[in-house]
Amino acid sequence: MRQGPGRVLISREEIAVRVGELGHAIAREHAGHVPLLVGVLKGAAVFMADLIRAIPAPIAMDFMGVSSYGPGTRASGVVRLTADLSVSIEGRYVVIVEDIVDSGRTLDYLRRNLETRHPRSLRVCALLDKVERRQVDVALDYVGFAIPDRFVLGYGFDLGGLHRGLPDIHVLEEQAADKGPAASLAPSAAGST
Ligand code: IMP
Ligand code: MG
Repeated sequence: MRQGPGRVLISREEIAVRVGELGHAIAREHAGHVPLLVGVLKGAAVFMADLIRAIPAPIAMDFMGVSSYGPGTRASGVVRLTADLSVSIEGRYVVIVEDIVDSGRTLDYLRRNLETRHPRSLRVCALLDKVERRQVDVALDYVGFAIPDRFVLGYGFDLGGLHRGLPDIHVLEEQAADKGPAASLAPSAAGST
């Protein structure tokens, strides 16, 4: 069986409304300051692009890259930094912008890493929260949607590097094998983030 995008879990319209609300909340809670939004590559790139346009105030942005090694649809829990920030965050009002919180390990790693750099404040904005999957307790300040324990694709979320460009968020589903080569879309090596 091949795996690919199945039914829509969260539509582009629902995403737009919620991202607008998150943007306003971030602006409200950082009034008088210019927050530095730190997007977590690659998954949060699409969310980040929409979020910064939903914040009705000046912001700065930067990116970090992390990779959670592990085959298939589960991250291994071994988090590796693949790209670092290009600016100092000392004394800054930082908001980590993450695509999805699953076990919580990626975010826990990022939080600890950024806290050593002495930001003035450090908040977390995650588009999706798989509450049931949590293994490490991490505080989330802004959450788009709590979702069930299903693997999702689209709006930045990938499987083996594919499907990030879909405008809606879909659940992963088994698909009939008659639609092309039998090779599965499941990643052979790294689960990218
Ligand atoms: P963690 O288990 O909270 O560390 O999540 C690790 C990373 O796995 C997240 O940042 C996502 O990039 C990725 N991930 C977790 N669940 C999904 C999913 O349903 N679809 C696509 N990527 C996911
Ligand atoms: Mg991620």
